[in-house]
Order: sequence, then C-alpha cells, then structure tokens
Amino acid sequence: MRLEGKTVIVSGAAHGIGRAYSERLAADGANVALLDIDGGRNEEVAAGICAKKGRAIAIKTDVRDLAAFERAAAQTAKQFGAINGLVNNAGMLNVIPITRCNFEDIPDAEWDQAFTLNTKAAWYGCKSVLPYLRQAGGGSIVNIASSTVFRGVPTRAHYVASKSALIGFSRTLARELGASWIRVNVVCPGSTLSEEQPTDDTVAMREAPVKVRCLQRVEKPADLVGTIAFLMSDDSAFITGQTLLVDGGSAFN
Ligand SMILES: NC(=O)c1ccc[n+]([C@@H]2O[C@H](COP(=O)([O-])OP(=O)(O)OC[C@H]3O[C@@H](n4cnc5c(N)ncnc54)[C@H](O)[C@@H]3O)[C@@H](O)[C@H]2O)c1
Repeated sequence: MRLEGKTVIVSGAAHGIGRAYSERLAADGANVALLDIDGGRNEEVAAGICAKKGRAIAIKTDVRDLAAFERAAAQTAKQFGAINGLVNNAGMLNVIPITRCNFEDIPDAEWDQAFTLNTKAAWYGCKSVLPYLRQAGGGSIVNIASSTVFRGVPTRAHYVASKSALIGFSRTLARELGASWIRVNVVCPGSTLSEEQPTDDTVAMREAPVKVRCLQRVEKPADLVGTIAFLMSDDSAFITGQTLLVDGGSAFN
C-alpha cells in the first residue's frame, strides 16, 4: 500500500474533514495518530479505523498547548517507532464556530482565538514533530488553510487572515527545512459539507458557492482525502512550498 510504513499525525481528527483524512491515510497503510480536543469522539474514530484493520491511536490533545503537542508527538513516536508526516488540520469552523460578521464587529477575543488555533497551533505542531522528521531523514507537513484566502469571502476576516498566514509560514518553513528533506505544503479546501448532521440552512450555505465553481457540485470531505494521501506519499517527493486549492475550481492560485 502507498503509505505502508509511514506514520502520520492528524490534528482535529475526531470530526469532519480531519476524520476523513485519518480514515483515508489509514486505509492507504499509514499508522495514524489522531489528535483532538474531543477525546471521546477521537477514541471512536480510532476504534473505527482499527476495526477495519487499520492502525490508529487516539491522543486527546489541545493543539494550542505546545507541551501537549510535544507529548503527543513523543507518544506517537514511541508507539509506531517514527514520525513521517503531520497534517495540521485542527481549526475553527463547526466544532469551534466562527462569528460571521463585518470585520469591525469581530469580538476582540475571537480574533486572537482564530490566530491561536488556526495559525499558532500549526507552528506548535511543526516544532513538535521536527526532531522526529529529522531523525527519519525527512518527512511531509501539510498545513490546512482555505480557498477563502484567494477569494476574500466577506464576514469572516479573522478566519481568512489566520488561514492566509499559514501560506507565508509554510513557504518559509519549506525554505528552512528543505536541507533536511522535510517538505511543507498547504492545502486549501473550498466550502465543504463537513458538518456531520447538517441543518437545511447549512446545506443551503454549502450549496451557495457551487455556482462560482468550474466543477459545479457540493464539495465533500472525500474530495480532499486523495490530495492529502498524495502529499504524504513519496509520489510528491519533489513538491514543497506549494499551495494546492482543492475547491472544484472556485479560485485560482
Ligand atoms: N469545511 C469547510 O468548508 C472548510 C473550508 C476550508 C477550510 N477548512 C478547514 O479545514 C479544517 C477542518 O474543517 P472541518 O470542516 O472538518 O471543521 P470541524 O470544525 O468540523 O472540525 C475541526 C476539528 O478540530 C478539532 N479541534 C478544535 N479545536 C481543537 C484544539 N484546540 N485542539 C485539538 N483539536 C481541536 C475539533 O474537535 C474537530 O474535530 C479546519 O482547519 C477548517 O478551517 C474547512
């Protein structure tokens, strides 16, 4: 299998798109460490993967806490023997909701919360896995941003700004870590129906962007998993510093 022998950490693995990444990486043969603040759901996702003969461990982690991220990385390396990849996926959206309002009305604390979870936690993740990726002779990091960065969607300036920062961060890391054969890329999902029990209003919200896409249908978590598996695999061994939009052709990079 494509990812046999590789160990990948996925943050925000208990729900939505992160769950889909974890299940696909495990199905492709990777050992997967699931990090999430929702310990109960995280355990269930890991158990589901193991029931299908995959290899997964659930580690309850608040990724905004550097020491907790470092402990999770150490536990992953101890369990599986190495770390080869990291998907920094935890972010604000459904489980930790965003206030949708004009930029001048964003609550001050929520601006900071967006940057802490969407941006700073990715920095913590990269720092936490770095010694292990170096030890493995290289690796792959994917930071999850958003296609809103390229479209400038109104009413969520803090979300878009915090996701935009990941692109400059990732390009810089790609330059700093290339000598260690560590690749750093960004994936930007489009508006994705990731809610587990969507209301009619949510479905309507996810259907609205369809009309601006080249490929005119609703995006689902399954549309994103192949790109993550590719970036975690050796098939992408010469790709770094790049930003891939997986949004049905909504925006162009
Ligand atoms: N769904 C979309 O339309 C869309 C579009 C573009 C980008 N994204 C991004 O993709 C990622 C996943 O989106 P989603 O729709 O699955 O979101 P979601 O809210 O459904 O899932 C986020 C996951 O992160 C976890 N999490 C939240 N705070 C955490 C913390 N402090 N520590 C550890 N885990 C934490 C949650 O428990 C949850 O499992 C996010 O970064 C999001 O911003 C989503």
